[in-house]
Amino acid sequence: MSSMAAGAIRYADQEPLVNVYVWEWPVRLTHWLNAISIWVLSVTGVYMGFPFLLATGEASQHFLMGWAKLIHFYAAIVFTLSVLSRILWMFRGNRFASWRYFLPWGKVRWKAMGPTLGYYLFRLRTPPGIVGHNPLAGFTYAIVFLMFLAQIGTGMAIYAASASYDSPVKVFELLIPVFGGLQDARWIHHMVMWLIWAFFVQHVYSAILMSQVEPTATMESIFSGHKFVPKDDVVEPGSRFYAEVAKRRKTWRSPKEG
Ligand code: HEM
Ligand code: HEM
Repeated sequence: MSSMAAGAIRYADQEPLVNVYVWEWPVRLTHWLNAISIWVLSVTGVYMGFPFLLATGEASQHFLMGWAKLIHFYAAIVFTLSVLSRILWMFRGNRFASWRYFLPWGKVRWKAMGPTLGYYLFRLRTPPGIVGHNPLAGFTYAIVFLMFLAQIGTGMAIYAASASYDSPVKVFELLIPVFGGLQDARWIHHMVMWLIWAFFVQHVYSAILMSQVEPTATMESIFSGHKFVPKDDVVEPGSRFYAEVAKRRKTWRSPKEG
């Protein structure tokens, strides 16, 4: 506790914490499979788009680009299966895994979007106190999953174009006009990669921020599955947060003024 940031909420001093099993193993497994495969896909993909390493001699002697493609395509299979499994788990998993956490569904979650952004921008001191994904994080992840699907769609379209005429993958040629042609599909495939990495920077920053100011083991939870949360947050999720929002709405004061 001594290493905690100044101003952190010391839940442990205040109330009994409840151990909640939030992320089941499929959520954790797909999270880390996605993270690792995105890294592999990006390194091999950037090399395919910009082959900065050149080997002299016959291509068949070193197979450099061949390896990049092979690794990219195997990682693409892992990534695609992992993303599709997680989407399936949104309908099969526990309530924290549900698709409902990804959309600002219902009045309460919708109204909490703005104030949650206010919290991340240091306009509010009370953390959202929602055990699963908070409304803003959930919505951001929905966009991230759309980006994943865009990568799978454009990737399949580009792959289909050069696949053998008798390959079953050839069917994905249907997707080429959806993305405005092969060259546009390639451009989207490249650009979305950078958008995913932009998300990554924000994502890791937010994870560190949350584990500093709201010591509920958020960071650890993506490894262990467990969060340790105040009882109020389980009984009435976000009640503390909404109370602060209501108080500040009357006379908007910064957290410093109390
Ligand atoms: C490219 C890499 C990464 C991507 C695309 C990514 C994406 C995501 C997504 C989509 C979720 C929602 C999980 C779900 O409901 O299935 C999530 C949750 C989470 N991720 Fe990552 N992640 C990445 C790397 C990391 C890393 C390196 C860390 C740790 C430093 C991390 C920490 C977390 C935590 C703590 C959660 C749960 C937080 C919450 O309740 O919102 N992620 N991530
Ligand atoms: C997050 C996931 C992915 C990332 C970050 C990624 C990244 C990249 C990048 C940067 C390129 C080079 C584009 C260029 O020419 O400038 C590329 C090429 C390609 N990617 Fe991906 N990719 C991903 C997923 C996929 C998936 C799921 C497939 C499905 C088959 C796929 C198939 C391809 C194909 C066929 C190419 C073209 C290879 C060639 O030039 O022959 N990618 N990828």
